[in-house]
Amino acid sequence: MKKYKIALLPGDGIGPEIAQEARKVLAAIEVRGQMEFECAEAAFGGAAYMQTGRAFPEQTMEICDAADAILKGPIGLSKEEADQIPIDEQPERGALLPMRRRYDTFANYRPVYLPKGLAHFSPLKAEVVGDGIDLLMIRELVGGLYFGHKERGKDDAGRRYVRETLEYDEVQIARILHVAFGEAQKRKRVLHNVHKSNVLLSSVLWNQVLEEVAGEYPQVEVRHIIVDAAATALCLDPRQFDVMVMENMMGDILSDLGGGILGSLGLMPSACVGPDKAYYEPAHGSAPDIAGRGIANPYSMIGSVALMLETSFGRVEEARAVWSALEGVFADGYATADLAVEGATVLDTAGFGDKVVERLRA
Ligand code: IPM
Ligand code: MN
Repeated sequence: MKKYKIALLPGDGIGPEIAQEARKVLAAIEVRGQMEFECAEAAFGGAAYMQTGRAFPEQTMEICDAADAILKGPIGLSKEEADQIPIDEQPERGALLPMRRRYDTFANYRPVYLPKGLAHFSPLKAEVVGDGIDLLMIRELVGGLYFGHKERGKDDAGRRYVRETLEYDEVQIARILHVAFGEAQKRKRVLHNVHKSNVLLSSVLWNQVLEEVAGEYPQVEVRHIIVDAAATALCLDPRQFDVMVMENMMGDILSDLGGGILGSLGLMPSACVGPDKAYYEPAHGSAPDIAGRGIANPYSMIGSVALMLETSFGRVEEARAVWSALEGVFADGYATADLAVEGATVLDTAGFGDKVVERLRA
């Protein structure tokens, strides 16, 4: 039996509630007898700041360094809470971006996936959704505006100004494109390149590097699409896409749009992969407005477990079992409050986790 060390960072808001369900799922996988998990829980984000004065405390870093993979809940405080703490220690700037930087998790996989049985959750018309949605957004995660040079101050005329730069070099661009071409090669061999080269020089370089990298993947057909047009196309005809690749900020925005066409960001797990370490997280936020009420949808957190099993531990079979348990619970007519369509039996967070576990044990 192989043992895996997981750093479990419950995070803020609904994080602890949905992390609890992920734990149950891990326990159910252990019962199958092939894998054993050692989970070390650590504070991260707003909760960590309140406890230690640091959003990404030293001790949490050590636990993450020592882990085989990191499973992380959403982080973030309400605006009122965030306004109380120094800007550099706010959970996004003080914890999440440093985590991405520390482990150089440049490759962000965001599957926008709605199988046929769940197609009714999409707000799009049935004829648009057809047999469901299955596309993979690949977002560059450690470059661009998020990590470029930033400054703010007062100019000579006494006006407050801000400057932040969108920075990439060719190596950063090439490595994410290799990931995207690799995925496209494994899937339908069509790669949509999302860019804004009509305005942004960064996209001009991106597209040049893409031409070079594409030479190594002759079987993959590249289709170029400008980011704003991609937003429209995702709403009108998402089935034209399979693998999409884009820089950081575009990926942030379009992946939330992806959650929208599924019917809920609660259906968006994600994997953030670096050269030596990966972390897994829901693509949604910490939803402070519903925290503590036990009504959050744990699908993205449990789906993140599935991504971890497959990507970090190479356990395809267990990952499939988790996906099919997740789908099965919905297919049985259950839903969480965010997806309460007509006729569905609404489950709370723990109730949903229990149903997933029941199916895993069956
Ligand atoms: C995401 C989130 C983060 C981002 C926030 C929390 C900093 O929205 O993972 O998409 O903007 O990358
Ligand atoms: Mn986002």
